[in-house]
Amino acid sequence: MGTNKELAESVNRLKKQRNAVILAHVYQQGEVQDIADYVGDSLDLSRKAVQTNADVIVFCGVQFMAETAAILNPHKTVLLPDKNAGCGLADMATAQQVSAIKKQDPELKVVSYVNSSAELKAVSDICCTSANAVKVVNSLNSTKVLFVPDRNLGSHVAENSDKIIQLWDGYCYVHEQITLNDLITLHDEHPDAAIIVHPECTAPVRHLADFTGSTSQMSRYVKESKQKEFIVGTEINFVYRLKADNSGKLFYPANTLCEGMNLISLEKIKWSLENMEYKVMVPDKIRAGAKIALDKMLEVK
Ligand code: 13P
Ligand code: SF4
Repeated sequence: MGTNKELAESVNRLKKQRNAVILAHVYQQGEVQDIADYVGDSLDLSRKAVQTNADVIVFCGVQFMAETAAILNPHKTVLLPDKNAGCGLADMATAQQVSAIKKQDPELKVVSYVNSSAELKAVSDICCTSANAVKVVNSLNSTKVLFVPDRNLGSHVAENSDKIIQLWDGYCYVHEQITLNDLITLHDEHPDAAIIVHPECTAPVRHLADFTGSTSQMSRYVKESKQKEFIVGTEINFVYRLKADNSGKLFYPANTLCEGMNLISLEKIKWSLENMEYKVMVPDKIRAGAKIALDKMLEVK
């Protein structure tokens, strides 16, 4: 184990040798965000994964994000530095369950949040992220939508759309942990702070907030706001990004951490580039169907 400076030097050397790019989600630990070539939300990172000329993508995020990069880039090597970096929400709906519902109602369009397996994406009409979910649903030419797997993002979309939306009963434990009481307590301590939350939060939490949006939308809100203080209802590491990008502003986070995201470290990125592990593979048959749903999402303006 070296110091962070030594580790960063090794990672940068290995990155050149392998012609690799490091993509990191905004929920990654600070040391990972600092070494990354791009830090962004899941939609930004999907786009970057398509645009990169690198041969190797080291994905610092959770399994479904690395899988998305692999689906979009069949000829690149996608590495996930810890194979246990999972997302509990992504496991809450299966392709078999969703296909069975779809069979009963051919008019129903299945919108799958990217926080889902490749198999589920492959049987979906289109994917979405929290940044484009409302636009994606409103772009459909059917009024009936099955939104999987997150019930909270689904209900946020339903509040902003005229479509008839059937919700799935999945949720993200990190965001469901944030209670109305947490936010009220923080607001009592910091009465001048604006409350911003992720749409994976429950409806009462979203309704109390001054702003609900994906991580990139929250970043934009903070940047453009004249306010100086913010209560942040999402994964705690996001505040590292907000602080780095908004000097002089103050942030008070709800204390909630995504275990999967936090498995990635500088040490593991070095190991990953040295050993070219763990390679994220998606079988061709599943990849083809999942890519159609992801490409459709990327076409929505
Ligand atoms: P974003 O789409 O805002 O990056 O969020 C992804 C996620 O996993 C939220 O929990
Ligand atoms: Fe999944 Fe929730 Fe972690 Fe996002 S914060 S990756 S939805 S478990």
